[in-house]
Amino acid sequence: MPDQLMETELEPVVERLLERHVSTAVEWFPHEYVPWGRARDFVSREEWWDPADRAESAARSALFVNLLTEDNLPFYFRTLSGFGRDGVWGEWTRRWTAEEGRHAIVIRDYLMVTRAIDPVALERGRMQQVSTGLTPELSDLSDALCYTTLQELATRIAHRNTGNLLEDPAGSSIMARVSNDENLHYLFYRDLASAALELDPSAMVIAMDRTVRGFTMPGTGIPDYAKHARLIAAAGVYDYSIFLEKVLQPVIFHHWRLQEREGLSAEAEQARDRLLRYMERLKKVAARLSRSLTSTSS
Ligand SMILES: [Fe+2]
Ligand SMILES: [Fe+2]
Repeated sequence: MPDQLMETELEPVVERLLERHVSTAVEWFPHEYVPWGRARDFVSREEWWDPADRAESAARSALFVNLLTEDNLPFYFRTLSGFGRDGVWGEWTRRWTAEEGRHAIVIRDYLMVTRAIDPVALERGRMQQVSTGLTPELSDLSDALCYTTLQELATRIAHRNTGNLLEDPAGSSIMARVSNDENLHYLFYRDLASAALELDPSAMVIAMDRTVRGFTMPGTGIPDYAKHARLIAAAGVYDYSIFLEKVLQPVIFHHWRLQEREGLSAEAEQARDRLLRYMERLKKVAARLSRSLTSTSS
């Protein structure tokens, strides 16, 4: 089904899910979560950021990556606007953008006040990330619905686990608050993708296969991303086994019921088999990586 037709067919679903989202989302204010009383200014040399103020390494990496990922919002907006700029589609994308913007505001304010991260490195990282504007390529609407569902759920989990890693209750509650927003984004995209699956099962199964096998989190343009990703994985914030067990398996098997889909085209049948094989392989890789992490940490 061409994108244009799918967009039109899904319009009533977008409208219903947008209404559900707006009635469920809780209004909140970044300034109420930031512990301003701990702030000091950076004006005189003695007040410059001191490396001794920093949080432990894995937490710092997680906060750095989470924030810079949120900062790349202009490019996500550009990508999503390619799928329905007008009407309820546009209304949703703009609302989603406004909410995502709030995440960067609250996390940055928290980091400045607590000095958990070197502000110069953070700003240079933001400049590099946004100037490069690297985002995953999504070739059509089916891919976009699969990708955003998986990414929002993965982000919800990464933010929540980052909060759990922090020893500071103010930081934990900020990350929990942001994570709740990501959950609502996930529910929106998951249910929209489910409706698309009813509309054109073959296209969606092909998109699932393509999206899962090529999946990367949106932060790959962040300086030293691979190094931070390793620290984040070692701390249990986000890794292959979380991606498989907490993201792919519940969404693909439980919600989208890939294994039970009927009436698929030959190409979609092949895509389903390939995806199932890929998930089996991922299980082995995740087990191997977690064994090697356990042996290096013991
Ligand atoms: Fe966000
Ligand atoms: Fe989100």
